[in-house]
Amino acid sequence: MPATPLNSTTRPAPSQDFTIRPLEAALGAEVLGLDLNQPLNPEDFARIHGAWLEHGLLVLRDQRIAAEQHIDFSRRFGPLQVHVLKQFLLANHPEVFIISNIVENGQPIGLGDAGKFWHSDLSYVELPSKGAMLLAQQLPEEGGDTLFASQQQAYETLPDELRQRIEGKRAVHSYTARYADEVFKGVRRPTLTPTQLAEVKPVVHPIVRTHPETGRKGLFVNENFTTHILGLPEDESKALLAELYAHSIKPQFIYRHQWQANDLLFWDNRALIHLATGCPSHLRRRMHRTTIEGDVPV
Ligand code: OGA
Ligand code: MN
Repeated sequence: MPATPLNSTTRPAPSQDFTIRPLEAALGAEVLGLDLNQPLNPEDFARIHGAWLEHGLLVLRDQRIAAEQHIDFSRRFGPLQVHVLKQFLLANHPEVFIISNIVENGQPIGLGDAGKFWHSDLSYVELPSKGAMLLAQQLPEEGGDTLFASQQQAYETLPDELRQRIEGKRAVHSYTARYADEVFKGVRRPTLTPTQLAEVKPVVHPIVRTHPETGRKGLFVNENFTTHILGLPEDESKALLAELYAHSIKPQFIYRHQWQANDLLFWDNRALIHLATGCPSHLRRRMHRTTIEGDVPV
């Protein structure tokens, strides 16, 4: 009897042979041997998703992928968010936001100073980012590391007294909070147009959020976008936020990533905050980011 050919449109992709290895750090795991140019079947996807939730950050090594694969993989985790700075979106792929210090023909090709303060991506919108995927395109010979801090470990180790003071409290987040900060003086930061400003009205989120997929609690304030705590006088709000920030970046919660060519980093913005350390300005760095939409923080 002749074998019936399997219908290629319904046959699941074969499993890929890849390893997930936890980093020797506060958080994160390395994914080795996965090729995002190849199809990813539901079982492989579930392994990656599970490891991401467990470790907060995945370092997917050696991803020689184009914008299409970067976007397709990102979309499997949820709808993508388009950044308010439209001038830095990749041509024909608005889902990709360019982070770069490169200036071409007098024009910056991307946001040059993204992540100079600790932050969770897009905490300033109603539906902050669930996770982001940052793909190395061009790396400097030195510098350009990215730091990540577990806000779940930070919450779990918060002194009782501090935990009680933030119980049930909410804070305001705004994109423009530090947009024109001193540190950006002399940097090519585009002025926000009235349309862009209208897109980034301040929002309110709980200071402690419960992760919608794991149930784990974490701190959800950051020095980049959080402006003040609701219901507190300005000086008290400032002092309390300063205490939380100091605690949230204790060395034991931090992993420092030194980029390798073709790294794709995928972090959970509901569990971590991150910081760009920057590189000497004469060196060229270019990264591509996709941003996955999350839930209303609760
Ligand atoms: C980001 C970000 C940090 C870096 O892509 O969201 O903050 O080191 N990047 O480029
Ligand atoms: Mn960021």
